[in-house]
Amino acid sequence: MVIRPRRLRRTQAIRDLAAETRLSPSMLVYPVFVREGRNVVEEIPAMPGQRRWSPDTLPRILEQAARAGIGGVLLFGVPERKDPEGSGAWAEEGIVQQAMRTAKREFPDLTLIGDVCLCEYTSHGHCGVLKGEGTGRTVDNDATLGLLARTAVSQAQAGADIIAPSDMMDGRVGAIRSALDGAGFQDTPIFSYAVKYASAFYGPFREAAGSVPAFGDRRGYQMDPRNAREALREARLDLDEGADMLMVKPGLPYLDVLRALREHTCVPVGSYSVSGEYSMIKAAASNGWLDEERVVSEAAVCQARAGADILITYFALSLAGWMREGKL
Ligand code: PBG
Repeated sequence: MVIRPRRLRRTQAIRDLAAETRLSPSMLVYPVFVREGRNVVEEIPAMPGQRRWSPDTLPRILEQAARAGIGGVLLFGVPERKDPEGSGAWAEEGIVQQAMRTAKREFPDLTLIGDVCLCEYTSHGHCGVLKGEGTGRTVDNDATLGLLARTAVSQAQAGADIIAPSDMMDGRVGAIRSALDGAGFQDTPIFSYAVKYASAFYGPFREAAGSVPAFGDRRGYQMDPRNAREALREARLDLDEGADMLMVKPGLPYLDVLRALREHTCVPVGSYSVSGEYSMIKAAASNGWLDEERVVSEAAVCQARAGADILITYFALSLAGWMREGKL
């Protein structure tokens, strides 16, 4: 007998019954930018609709996130002062630490994920401290590990429920795990940006977070877009060091990598739809060239179909709304 799949496409109800991929708000993570100051809600020009919030205005957006029933928020700090070490990243009164304390107090049930990296806090904009002189300057992997571990502990002390290192230094998951354990945070999971490519799609984020490298680029520590097998190696190393969840970043251009991770590991895998993916859709939609709701929904479904258990996206609040309305 011949199977005819199109029978399963006859009505919306049958299509829904037969769907292989189903999404829910609990799989969504919303990235939020926090900056210093009071009473600030600042538009991010390259990311229309996204804003930087000061600690006192932050509850407004967190309330929307809590009401949307999403899986968590990912906090990024935009500090006023920077230095070569990035000491603002682990300061007790650092911008993210202030934000975490406010968020925990006002929305104790909202899962807080702390992005751990130094690039927003270093005067040179690289993800770690530097060694060498002049044009020979490079990021000092091993000297950076202790600083990342301090940052992770200070975020956990301020209320972070999950620690997400995005710096791409080798050995950082192990360093962070042992520092968290030593400080009494044995139960705090690590969501590793294990597979983070050196991508031009991060452009708008670097404007949003003020983290453009002052010289060179990040190709010395982020992955080469030509490599997929290497992603499995990165993932395995992070799992051996104690990562609880893994992330692939960017999202849509790397679905093959996402699928490979889903097939070769057993932990939850996240797909990060980065700033450039957001801004492209926004720009096209504002010109009337794309239907924003349909494109964003399709992109989310495709990442889930490719293997994402978790979707990190600047469209999280819109997506949650469309899901509640039964549109996807
Ligand atoms: C920090 C970090 C970056 C992003 C997340 N964490 C920027 C970078 O690596 O340059 C990018 C997120 C986005 O583009 O949405 N290292």
